[in-house]
Amino acid sequence: MTDCPSGSGAAKRPPTILDIINAKNVRKLVMLTAYDAPGARIAEAGGADLILVGDSAAMTVLGRPDTNSISMDEMLHHARAVTAAARSALVVGDMPFLSYESGPDDALRNAGRFFREAGIRALKLEGGRQIVPQIKALVGAGIPVMGHLGLTPQRAAMLGGFKAQARTAEGAQKLLEDALALEDAGCFAMVLECVPAPVAAAVSARLRIPTIGIGAGPDCDGQVLVFHDLLGLSDFRPRFAKAYADLGRVASEAVAEYAREVREGAFPAPEHCFSIRPEEWQAWQTRLEADSRANGKE
Ligand code: KIV
Repeated sequence: MTDCPSGSGAAKRPPTILDIINAKNVRKLVMLTAYDAPGARIAEAGGADLILVGDSAAMTVLGRPDTNSISMDEMLHHARAVTAAARSALVVGDMPFLSYESGPDDALRNAGRFFREAGIRALKLEGGRQIVPQIKALVGAGIPVMGHLGLTPQRAAMLGGFKAQARTAEGAQKLLEDALALEDAGCFAMVLECVPAPVAAAVSARLRIPTIGIGAGPDCDGQVLVFHDLLGLSDFRPRFAKAYADLGRVASEAVAEYAREVREGAFPAPEHCFSIRPEEWQAWQTRLEADSRANGKE
């Protein structure tokens, strides 16, 4: 790993898939979601190794109650904006609900759209052993795949809602077997969402590929947070997410000050205005006066 991003944000090229795999047991991977160009720039300036164009866009930026309504076209729209700005992070596209579940053909077709129409070079799919054929088809076609186990929001209805998974011996064993199956199928990394920390640690220790946790404790090989949760821009922040800034409050205060200055006539100030040369102003005044004299005569 010579010039793989070191967390300083100074990297000149995105990490390769091999860089990501080789980071396991060497350094923690940092992933952040982003849905547009400014988000990608902020994520990279902060030193993120990976940017996930998550289907969480449905909730964070489109204001919907869950992630399942976001379409391929909407995901491509966000992915294009992120890849237009990203320079140093590996950008991972999130395959939306029902874009791959039906089988390898649909998975390949939609993955191809992410590659050709949005410049995405790696994809994330939610699910365990049931999507191994899709993962094998994508990896076989040369498409790097990140897995996603534990709480898989696209299947929340089948999981009894948005709640922690693998909290029983049976659930933990199922998680481990799914994780090993995804690794065998060729995934280069795997998100573990909302699973007990000791379970995530044990699964991580049994995999050769890195795990990236969200609500899965400190012993995953990396962490991912949703951009709006990290920056304090969410209406609702899950317990496992940490806000490192309160940009929502900062932004509302800025808007309130703008509104006050507009109402008081303090904005725009002279420095925000454009000038007109005095001779041009005078010429126009003369013309206006002439026009009004002429109109007065009519
Ligand atoms: O869509 C998303 O943001 C995700 C992360 C929570 C891992 O899948």
